[in-house]
Amino acid sequence: MSRATNIFFMGKGGVGKSTSAALHSLFLAGKGYRVILVSLDPAHNQCDIFERRFSDKPCKVTSNLFVIEVDQERWIKTYLKDVQQQINKAYAYLTAFNLESHFKVIKHSPGLEEYAVLLAYKHIRNVYADFDFLVFDMPPTALSLKFFSLPSLSLIWLDHLLNLRREIIKKRDLITKIKLIKKEYERDKLLNKINEQQQDYQYLKKGFETMDMTRIHLVLNPDKLAHAESVRILDRLVELDIKVSRIICNKLQAGLSCAKIKKFEEIPQINFPASLIPLIGINALRQFLKENSNAATKQL
Ligand SMILES: Nc1ncnc2c1ncn2[C@@H]1O[C@H](COP(=O)(O)OP(=O)(O)O)[C@@H](O)[C@H]1O
Ligand SMILES: [Mg+2]
Repeated sequence: MSRATNIFFMGKGGVGKSTSAALHSLFLAGKGYRVILVSLDPAHNQCDIFERRFSDKPCKVTSNLFVIEVDQERWIKTYLKDVQQQINKAYAYLTAFNLESHFKVIKHSPGLEEYAVLLAYKHIRNVYADFDFLVFDMPPTALSLKFFSLPSLSLIWLDHLLNLRREIIKKRDLITKIKLIKKEYERDKLLNKINEQQQDYQYLKKGFETMDMTRIHLVLNPDKLAHAESVRILDRLVELDIKVSRIICNKLQAGLSCAKIKKFEEIPQINFPASLIPLIGINALRQFLKENSNAATKQL
């Protein structure tokens, strides 16, 4: 089982999620922790921040820091292939659905993106289980919230599916009165699959809810729209029993501060100033961390 701590950077577009994720990853790596910085945003920014090319394989940036840019398209394909395989296995008597010929259309189906992101997340947790921190640079708010909602939502669906399946089995047994061995087997297989998926989603849900395993760093700027979106993110996360562990007030300038928000009062707030130099390249990031070492440390 993975012992890595997740740190998710969320917030409105442009507030500095990618930059803050890069800074925090560098900071943790500098403290001797082994860190993977994962861009889950399909419009990847880490390549521009580190001025390097990245891919879905970890690329070493410093001795303890690796960067991955998740290829969402590839995960959508993996997810659809997996679904096809399961359909073929469960309903062997049906003609196989030809996924390849429909792929161009179904890869744009609603809901696929969050499944792809969740699959990528599960894969990364499994494969890089021995790292100390997995830092996630998150996609835009709507997709990020769907990602966090997915385990709870799937559990509701699976519960319905389980009841439905039980009803079907009861009625079928009533009608046929004969229990065919092959059908018995198939029925168990489907029920087992649903149970397996329930366990899987329950584990993911628990992982998001447990602060030892998951930290959310909510980034905002001293402006009204960023505040408003942060409040909405917090409200949705509260509904999902997910706690925000830090508020990062970024790009502060003289005379501009983040408004005091009642809902944020209990959450430690960290202030980062607007940098005078562009935060591009590892040297600029290190320089910024050095100048703001107090704030950087408070994120731990
Ligand atoms: N503390 C800061 N000071 C100055 N510029 C910043 C700071 N944080 C981020 N930026 C800049 O703001 C822009 C948006 O940041 P980015 O990290 O890409 O935001 P997001 O990932 O939330 O969309 C970038 O040009 C970035 O260099
Ligand atoms: Mg970004």
